[in-house]
Amino acid sequence: MQILNAVIPVAGLGTGLLPSTKSQPKEMLPVGRKPVVQYVVEEFETAGLRRILFVTGRSKHSIENHFDRDLELIRSLKAAGKLDRIEELRYEETHVQFFYTRQSEPKGLGHAIAHAEHFAGKEPFVVGLGDSIIRNHGSASVVERMVKCFEKHNAACVIAFEEVLREQVSFYGIADPAAEGDEFPVRDLIEKPSVEEAPSNLAIAARYVFSPRIFDAIRRTKPGKLDEIQITDAMRILIKDGHPVYGVRLAGGEHRYDIGNFESYFKTFIDFALADQKFGKAVEKYLREKFGGAHGS
Ligand code: UTP
Repeated sequence: MQILNAVIPVAGLGTGLLPSTKSQPKEMLPVGRKPVVQYVVEEFETAGLRRILFVTGRSKHSIENHFDRDLELIRSLKAAGKLDRIEELRYEETHVQFFYTRQSEPKGLGHAIAHAEHFAGKEPFVVGLGDSIIRNHGSASVVERMVKCFEKHNAACVIAFEEVLREQVSFYGIADPAAEGDEFPVRDLIEKPSVEEAPSNLAIAARYVFSPRIFDAIRRTKPGKLDEIQITDAMRILIKDGHPVYGVRLAGGEHRYDIGNFESYFKTFIDFALADQKFGKAVEKYLREKFGGAHGS
């Protein structure tokens, strides 16, 4: 079985990055040279996914424009002889077909994913959060490993997990793993536990594979605080019903960057600017001089 469908929810309000996100999507904020969501689309294309549904909301039109071919821009770049700039638009020639639907009220990730029911039909699908990049230095990406795990165990759901520092568990959904290893059955998920309560330091890392069973589980999920339907609660229903739910760890060299608050956004931007082929060295030199200067004074 080959999974071709993916869903990228981008309908959140992005209030953690106000005022930047008042009239532009946080998923379009630049990280290095590209907007965050372009990394997600490229990751999915590389993993063999071919149909992507964006669950969008108000003031998210720029996402649609970003993935559309802009022939007028290409024509004027050609006329001006700026062929190197045209290279920067190569991503528009993708093998992926895009679909869009609106979540008219941001009532949580579970509620956003429910909008993919007709798109998915009877097929399994991948979900990637539009504000999170998974940086991969290895060969098979985490999504490819998750899809393999999904098929091997005939799973209802596979979740990506990243090890976080013990004192940070209260910021994340945390796994109660039923076994050790890179791939494990999930016994339970605990949303934002205290350090004492946390059964592990494995945090949900913005990528999921779902069978269409998830839609029934979402329907049975009671809204939590702020009337939001959380996908973690729906996945717990799958576990309670006895369906196989698995976790796949990010590998060494893979890291999840979530740009949802300014601290993580700034750190993410710096990491990607440092890795830039053309300007990375200059940025590094600049930072070293600054850092050295602060020490010296
Ligand atoms: P977050 O909860 O981190 O994003 O969702 P948010 O709601 O925009 O954040 P704050 O709290 O206001 O700062 C992670 C991803 O899921 C999408 C978001 O757009 C983001 O890319 N999302 C979230 C939805 O599509 N719909 C929702 O109802 C909630």
